[in-house]
Amino acid sequence: MRPDASAILGRTLALAALVFLTGCPPAAPTRPEPRRTLAVIGEPQYIPADGASCLRLFIRLLEAHSSFRAPRLKSDLGRIQDLTQVSSGQWVANLCAGNETGKVLLQAGGDTIADPPSLYFVPPADYPASEPVPVAGFTVTVDPLVQTVTIASSDILDGYSIELSVYLYDPLPFLFDGDTVEVGVVIEGTNTPWDLLEVRAEIETISRRGVTLDNPDGRDPEPSGVPYYYYGGFLATSRAAALGENPSSWTAGWVIHFSGDHPFTLTGTIRVRLPVPADDRAGFRIRPFLSMAASDAIAIAWDTDHESQTLVVYGRDPGCEMIATGTEERNRINENLGWTTPRYFDSFFHRVELIGLQPDTVYYYRVLSVKAPTSPQTFVTAAVPGRAFSFGVIGDTRTGDAYHAALIRRMAGKSLNFYLHVGDLVWNSGSESEWLKFFHIEAPLLKNHPIFPAVGNHDTARMDLFYRRYFHPDSPFPDSAELRGRMYSFDWGNSHLVSIDTDLPVTPDSPQYQWLRQDLETATRNPDRKFTFVLEHHPVYSLFAHGRYPDGQTYLEPLYETYDVDAVFSGHVHLYERSNVLGRPYITTGGGGAPTDSGESDPSFNPYYVGSFFGYEYLIVSVREHYFDIDAFDLKGNLFDQVHYSKP
Ligand SMILES: [Fe+2]
Repeated sequence: MRPDASAILGRTLALAALVFLTGCPPAAPTRPEPRRTLAVIGEPQYIPADGASCLRLFIRLLEAHSSFRAPRLKSDLGRIQDLTQVSSGQWVANLCAGNETGKVLLQAGGDTIADPPSLYFVPPADYPASEPVPVAGFTVTVDPLVQTVTIASSDILDGYSIELSVYLYDPLPFLFDGDTVEVGVVIEGTNTPWDLLEVRAEIETISRRGVTLDNPDGRDPEPSGVPYYYYGGFLATSRAAALGENPSSWTAGWVIHFSGDHPFTLTGTIRVRLPVPADDRAGFRIRPFLSMAASDAIAIAWDTDHESQTLVVYGRDPGCEMIATGTEERNRINENLGWTTPRYFDSFFHRVELIGLQPDTVYYYRVLSVKAPTSPQTFVTAAVPGRAFSFGVIGDTRTGDAYHAALIRRMAGKSLNFYLHVGDLVWNSGSESEWLKFFHIEAPLLKNHPIFPAVGNHDTARMDLFYRRYFHPDSPFPDSAELRGRMYSFDWGNSHLVSIDTDLPVTPDSPQYQWLRQDLETATRNPDRKFTFVLEHHPVYSLFAHGRYPDGQTYLEPLYETYDVDAVFSGHVHLYERSNVLGRPYITTGGGGAPTDSGESDPSFNPYYVGSFFGYEYLIVSVREHYFDIDAFDLKGNLFDQVHYSKP
């Protein structure tokens, strides 16, 4: 039997109002000490190029405290300035600090607030928000006979770290009113992301004695406008969660009325709305890196945590007088990875191609439209024939982060024009976190030196999501989903450089082989070409068991000989190994960070073996008009091998 709606509504409103006015569950029977809570709310206002961040602090007194006069603020981030009272119980102040996070310590009326809140962003009411996103489900079971309420949650997402707990309304969790029972239930969430704009927890089904009622459209608005759900013998008001003063915690409450004394179960879903920030709220996830440079062009790419414009200013002096725009691509990573409920925030990949540049020229550039625009950085366009240049080579950086980082720091200190990576940039290329780590480690090098990678066997997972997105090299097979972006060539000075993918077939009937032969043949006809370098992950020759690549010996090596390839750089085996193949250096440089190779070897594998080095290492190749030098350095920067190669 449906209870009298007007009588219930009065109690419902009273209980629900408690939840809404306080933003907290009703107090337990033994209340704690009255809170003397100050909320400190910081919204980033402006961040200048030097990296300092300034926040405007909003300080609000939440509960009266007789001795409170004015807040005294201390910060371990920076000096708090310009404290001004704007209304009764509310003040504003400014705090300028670095990019790090920290605490603001509060003192009120002589009492130090024991656990001051961290700074967080409280958006205005009209802040742009995403559509509601489901993040968790919950199940609540009510047993009126023993007067208990239990909650189970499911699909709680790691990224959201939502913790649920349930309360009965106090002091009367179970009211018996004639033939109806009335129960108040509050769900409290904590540790939710700090930037949620709204949380909504809604009941979707209610079941008892094996019968489940779905009620997606069951709203039966009362004349007062308060919605409630009517489930046959049940009646439940539905409430959006109330974000507290700290938006990482929230509550949702219902008052449920029903007849009979059998246990029943509610199920529901929690949905959140995320901010869609304006341009100046975007921050870097991947700092700007250079790739695919030519004599007249270069690509600058970066990744941000929020949508923003894609702007680069650049020029031949630090004045940076030209503006270039590019593309922004939203990475809907949950959809792309097949998650039906989100585990990650979307990211935004930006790419600008600067064109019409002068060859062999130093340019300055800065990336704008983010919270912290970059300071001016430089790059050099490709050299014209006849000009000297140098490049670095590394391979198999993968998992040894400390070694990888040390090698990158050493390379960044060298005078280089660009940088080759012979593959296995990461261990699992289907994991975004590994790419974020890779770019974080390589940032000191890649902000000034364009990278030209080769595809390794660890780089092929989810290529559209990551490898191709990041490097997007010009492709001879742009229409082939499999081949696109996996091989390319370019010229620098007097040299032609080719990158191929040895995870793909190299038999003479394969598209890659035919393209490679055509590319090398064209290069040999170029009168400006003196040297040709090939970049490939698997070594054609290696003494070591891990490096066996018979197709390379059968098909690639004859091609290299026919078309005058002067040096081949490879990885895959985690060490340095030099071979002399008919007078030409074939070098494995796989000591970029992955665990060093065990050394299991067979002399018959490599008749051209010269020597090897077990350890972390990288190469510097210096190219001149009639010769080039290859210098091999270890982790400490010691030169351990040299090759001098000349041509008339
Ligand atoms: Fe490999």
